[in-house]
Amino acid sequence: MATSAEYKLGEYAFPRGWFAVGSSSEIGRKPVALRYFGQDLVAYRGESGRVVVLDAYCPHMGTHLASGPSTATSRSPTHMEGDNIRCPFHAWRFGPDGVCNHIPYHDGPIPPAARIKSWTVEEKYGVVFVWHDAEEQAPDYPLIDFPEWDDPQWVRWPGLQHLCDLNHPIEIFDNMSDVAHLGHLHGGDAVAYENEYDGHLMHQRQRSAVEPVAGVFDATYSTHAGYVGPGTAFGRFVEMQAVQLICVTPIEDGTCRLWQTGMVRSRSGTVDDEARAFRDQISAMFGNGLMTDAEVWQFKKPAINVMQLPGDGPFRQSRVWYSQFYNPRAKAAEIVGRVAGVHYSKNWPPFTAEAAE
Ligand code: FES
Ligand SMILES: [Fe+2]
Repeated sequence: MATSAEYKLGEYAFPRGWFAVGSSSEIGRKPVALRYFGQDLVAYRGESGRVVVLDAYCPHMGTHLASGPSTATSRSPTHMEGDNIRCPFHAWRFGPDGVCNHIPYHDGPIPPAARIKSWTVEEKYGVVFVWHDAEEQAPDYPLIDFPEWDDPQWVRWPGLQHLCDLNHPIEIFDNMSDVAHLGHLHGGDAVAYENEYDGHLMHQRQRSAVEPVAGVFDATYSTHAGYVGPGTAFGRFVEMQAVQLICVTPIEDGTCRLWQTGMVRSRSGTVDDEARAFRDQISAMFGNGLMTDAEVWQFKKPAINVMQLPGDGPFRQSRVWYSQFYNPRAKAAEIVGRVAGVHYSKNWPPFTAEAAE
């Protein structure tokens, strides 16, 4: 395991960006304990339906708000009132903004310090995302976009599949610029390949030759994949009409959680049991593909410096792009400017634009 500082990523241990913290189905009215970005958090679904994520510890005496399920407060109907939560120890009540708004045994003004950080949350695609930002500012780029989600011909995914917990997320990120592993690890040789860096977006466009799989792959297939910020990635399988979501969230400095899920366009145009079964087949295939990478990731030592050959993908340039999120946003444009544009790898011809669409 190596830390962000050991990878020389920048000023911050944890990057700025949108990150998944779980599937929607995992967050209900009962508060749940989460741990990401080296911090303890509590998440719950308010009466209005909104998901609230707060720092875990009560400012009164440090109680974890998801602890004490047998306390009188936790068993009381006033435990989770509206979108509020009460601490299980002395029943101080916090709003979804993290501000204490009621102390049952106290008549005077509530101390201004009786507040907890409330995280910026977006729930979309059956996933709960939070905005992490060492500078504590509003999001500076939008959540990853899947127009397929609202297309009635597409079979939505049910939520995220947790694959495994791994070392530093940069080792997963390297995959997005690793053209040589496509043939040697996954078994489908790239015949065209390129990467592009553009602001908070990183793209990988490739076409590979594979053994045909009836109803799934022809002899070649194309993908347009990429990262949207450091925590979410997409893969659009052009001919297959399938998309994959990959989420990578730091747990501690040097470890991360990896999820994925997939959706497909219904072959018949109707979302029925057959289409859902196909979605499950493709999503499982995506998950198995990533677990083939994880077989290596789980046991490798950190690649602090990649011995990058001309025939490798542009690891170094990708890591420069990635480092923008580990530094103050004021430096991001200058960092991206060092690598912005399309990068080609020796031995692989550029991916032609017409095949991507
Ligand atoms: S520790 Fe939370 S109310 Fe006392
Ligand atoms: Fe891979």
